[in-house]
Amino acid sequence: IEANAIELKNALNKYPNFPKEGILFEDFLPIFTKPELFQKLIDCFKMHLQEKFGDKKIDFVVGLESRGFLFGPTLALALDAGFVPIRKIGKLPGECVKATYEKEYGVDEFEMQKNAIPKNANVVIVDDIIATGGSAEAAGNLIQQVGANILEFDFVMELDFLHGRDKLQAPTFTLLKDQTEALKN
Ligand code: PRP
Ligand code: MG
Repeated sequence: IEANAIELKNALNKYPNFPKEGILFEDFLPIFTKPELFQKLIDCFKMHLQEKFGDKKIDFVVGLESRGFLFGPTLALALDAGFVPIRKIGKLPGECVKATYEKEYGVDEFEMQKNAIPKNANVVIVDDIIATGGSAEAAGNLIQQVGANILEFDFVMELDFLHGRDKLQAPTFTLLKDQTEALKN
């Protein structure tokens, strides 16, 4: 996993001062332009999850709109699990559970279809990056509302200095941080 994680990290494109002055934006889209990198991304998460939860069945991968949709369904298929989307407010039909979270400008809201995940199902929640952790925390709240069990939050990238993972309701794994740091130690 570690060598692949380093290769994936090197594939990220960095954009200084995007979306605004002083921010270094790390773009993971180049991973999806090369099938061998995309495959490695999926394989890394799959190996990590199998190593950590070996005996347990992962029933669902839950992805956050929109960048969590880029690899969540593919990972779900690789794990022989279902995929369930969490969407921004007003996009999903039928009865939904809702959770609000803080964004830079005001409050935003996430929804998930209420009947998508049965009680006590094992889920992992995936997204591209954890920053403040507000989005992921709201996603965790939705999973708790339907009575399912969060095995882990899984991210590709993390802005450590914001300590977002401290907010989360379950263990957190960040592929391009935890795996590349493990190699240094
Ligand atoms: C970004 C990113 C994460 C979230 C992280 O999504 O893709 O989902 O912010 O921030 P947080 O940890 O502070 O909540 P964004 O809401 O910009 O939308 P997008 O995925 O649709 O681009
Ligand atoms: Mg997002």
